[in-house]
Amino acid sequence: MADNKTFTPKSVGSLTAKNRIIRSATNDHLGNRDGSVSDAEIAMYDTLACNEIGTIITGHMSVSPNLDYRADEVQLCIGDDRYIDGLSRIASKIHEYDAIAIAQLSHAGPKGLHPIDFNELSTEEMERIRDWFIAAAVRAQRAGFDGVQVHIAHWYLLQAVANIDLNHRTDKYGGSPENCLRLPLEIVEGIRKECGAGFIIMVKMNAHNTLEGIDDQYLLNMYADRLVNAGVDLVELSGSDFARKDRKAELYYIEEARKLKEVHPEIPMSLVGGIFSRDTIEKALEVTEFVSLSRTLLTQPDFLTKLKNEEDLNPEADFKSRCIHCNKCFEIFATKYERCVFGPVLPKLEETFSHQ
Ligand SMILES: Cc1cc2nc3c(=O)[nH]c(=O)nc-3n(C[C@H](O)[C@H](O)[C@H](O)COP(=O)(O)O)c2cc1C
Repeated sequence: MADNKTFTPKSVGSLTAKNRIIRSATNDHLGNRDGSVSDAEIAMYDTLACNEIGTIITGHMSVSPNLDYRADEVQLCIGDDRYIDGLSRIASKIHEYDAIAIAQLSHAGPKGLHPIDFNELSTEEMERIRDWFIAAAVRAQRAGFDGVQVHIAHWYLLQAVANIDLNHRTDKYGGSPENCLRLPLEIVEGIRKECGAGFIIMVKMNAHNTLEGIDDQYLLNMYADRLVNAGVDLVELSGSDFARKDRKAELYYIEEARKLKEVHPEIPMSLVGGIFSRDTIEKALEVTEFVSLSRTLLTQPDFLTKLKNEEDLNPEADFKSRCIHCNKCFEIFATKYERCVFGPVLPKLEETFSHQ
């Protein structure tokens, strides 16, 4: 019997998600080189949205108008009004199936095509980045998205700034944990002000915000609390090491989530990382209100449909995803287009990589 909680509606900000499953932001590597949305992406979102997922977060989109600051050459851009029409096709497609549509906003920072050392930026340049995020959220709203997720994880710009061992700034954006959080905080406050009370704001956070691991839980609790007070509706908890985990590992960040919930039970959360089965979904939902899936849905976009209908997901193991955590999907630029991927998008991937 499929767990009742998994398919129980739950509010997220001003809306109600039809169930507890979130498609975690997953870069599809299917965008056009000019940063615009491709037809293959619309086909991909159709495949995902028709399969019961309650909330769908897009792959990370670059907030900078300068395409050189993207994470890769086919990453979507949301840094200019000319992208709004294409983005609205994604939001409409997700809404066709009554799912909540969330646009993930990111600045690749040190991991960009043109890497940026944020410690070298002036205060004004940091403020310009803040304003790019806020303007991008307004564009997402105009494109019809229900909300945005601000990406403060995985060594991209905002997570690097929030990491107290990487941040050596001496202005208002560095020098203390409070200052290391200031840029994400100002972004959230600005989005709330510009987009209004009904617009969903999520953040994706790292469980670890130091290199030494000394004050990680304290920082996580403090950061999450402040972000929620600034207007965040849901904290998705992740970590930078998900692709290096042992193949047998599961529920990678559940202990950190549990400790955060002990101190701040009021913070709405989703857990992401290492959730590949009905069993791990149920375990996560004992701690957080939502669970987020990435590789499980890359491998089997119909995972949830099958789970709901109590069909075998993997012939060799009941209610487990077929994903073997080989991570070829994550290393796609090194492995060309060898990855588990939905049928409709393969021609687009071949086209993308034939240029390289
Ligand atoms: C191919 C691929 C692309 C990803 N792209 C993004 C992204 O754009 N934004 C993001 O926040 N995380 C991204 N992630 C990380 C996932 O959202 C998720 O945090 C991670 O894969 C752990 O979840 P899982 O165990 O369910 O795969 C990506 C992961 C994969 C495998």
